[in-house]
Amino acid sequence: MKRRVAILISGRGSNMVALIQAAAAAHFPAEIALVISNRSDAAGLEKARASDVPALAIESKLFGKDRATFEAVVQAALDEHGIDLICLAGFMRLLTAQFVQRWHGRMLNIHPSLLPSFPGIDPAAQALGAGVKISGATVHFVIPKTDAGPIVMQGAVGVCDDDTPDTLAERILRVEHRIYPEALRLVAGGQVRLEGDICKTTAGAGSAAILISPTTGCGT
Ligand code: GRF
Repeated sequence: MKRRVAILISGRGSNMVALIQAAAAAHFPAEIALVISNRSDAAGLEKARASDVPALAIESKLFGKDRATFEAVVQAALDEHGIDLICLAGFMRLLTAQFVQRWHGRMLNIHPSLLPSFPGIDPAAQALGAGVKISGATVHFVIPKTDAGPIVMQGAVGVCDDDTPDTLAERILRVEHRIYPEALRLVAGGQVRLEGDICKTTAGAGSAAILISPTTGCGT
């Protein structure tokens, strides 16, 4: 039976669209059963409705600093829709440790860096500031610490000398749209297991490919 997934967003929802499109395939092990935005002006809400996915706005700002009551409303919606798994996709609201614990092992997030490098705000600018030559995106299980938790999947891109934060973020976003559906496929299909802080994938799902950046043309 397909796992029922809720996607939590705050903005444009391009990862949400990638997940909805992937889950439309007959053999995908999950269905997107609900989208919740904590902002009623999120562009992603209309995109979800256009794909016939139920989409709710639960305005977090109406709750001020009362995160627990906001989350109780979110939880009620998740219960009502029989949700098994949550995908955070550009959800810009911190969650309480209590909510995170309740969804332990059942809530994913995507972050546009190769974690544990560059958690937090503007990771593309952080990567350029550090001069790294390879960056990318990470899908991970959510734990109470922000942008941390067992890593399910990563995708990498080379960093170019003339990259700006915008050009690098754009290239990473294309990776995000590939790895988030694949990570959800693994998790919903029961192909990962948590061993403490580490997420392991069933045999055959890994890659030993080498990625080198910049390329020097010396043939190695
Ligand atoms: C993505 O870069 C994601 O990694 C980060 O927030 C951004 C959301 O973009 N957490 P979108 O709303 O999915 O287009």
